[in-house]
Amino acid sequence: MPVDMDLRPSVAEDLPSLEKLYAAAFPEEDLVPLLRHLLEETDGVLSLVAVSKNEPVGHVIFTKCAVEPGRTTVALLGPLCAAPAFQKQGVGSRLVRAGLEAVRAWEAAQVLVLGDPKYYGRFGFLPGSRITPPYDLPKEWAAAWQYLELASGTAQESGTLRVPSPWQDRALWSA
Ligand SMILES: CC(C)(COP(=O)(O)OP(=O)(O)OC[C@H]1O[C@@H](n2cnc3c(N)ncnc32)[C@H](O)[C@@H]1OP(=O)(O)O)[C@@H](O)C(=O)NCCC(=O)NCCS
Repeated sequence: MPVDMDLRPSVAEDLPSLEKLYAAAFPEEDLVPLLRHLLEETDGVLSLVAVSKNEPVGHVIFTKCAVEPGRTTVALLGPLCAAPAFQKQGVGSRLVRAGLEAVRAWEAAQVLVLGDPKYYGRFGFLPGSRITPPYDLPKEWAAAWQYLELASGTAQESGTLRVPSPWQDRALWSA
């Protein structure tokens, strides 16, 4: 059954609850430092929280990035999570769809994501982006690097994704 929730931009006071949410949603991966660094960015980070009964039950970040060479703006989707007790009830989908709408204001040509194609395919993400990630991915992750075109005709866009400092950590891009 869909969860009764509201979506809103996160605020600084959400951080302790978001840290707990990340620890529960990613038991095998410590993404809290990335979360903190991204939330410290003053520009180019969209952080949306899903709140049910005053508790954050889901969270997503979209980061504004450039593509080199050229002047294209794109958005990088991630991390995305729903609290374990709230998974498979539409929380992640609501967050992704709201974010995809919001990043149009950045005039982003595409959204890129490194994630499970079975999940992101439902939003129209496709493998085979001509925009390469900032670090070489393990071969087995090739299909996980996906794109969604926001402005028609940008699928031919090619180059290398230039990420802001929170994402400049090779460990975030390797198995
Ligand atoms: C992945 C995640 C964000 C999905 O959010 P969610 O709120 O549970 O998902 P939704 O309710 O929007 O969508 C549910 C559908 O997605 C599928 N799904 C959920 N997680 C999936 C995954 N990791 N891979 C493939 N499919 C997945 C469900 O089976 C369900 O399919 P159905 O509609 O055919 O029944 C959430 O499960 C989660 O936080 N997982 C742990 C953290 C994580 O892996 N984050 C993603 C990488 S950054």
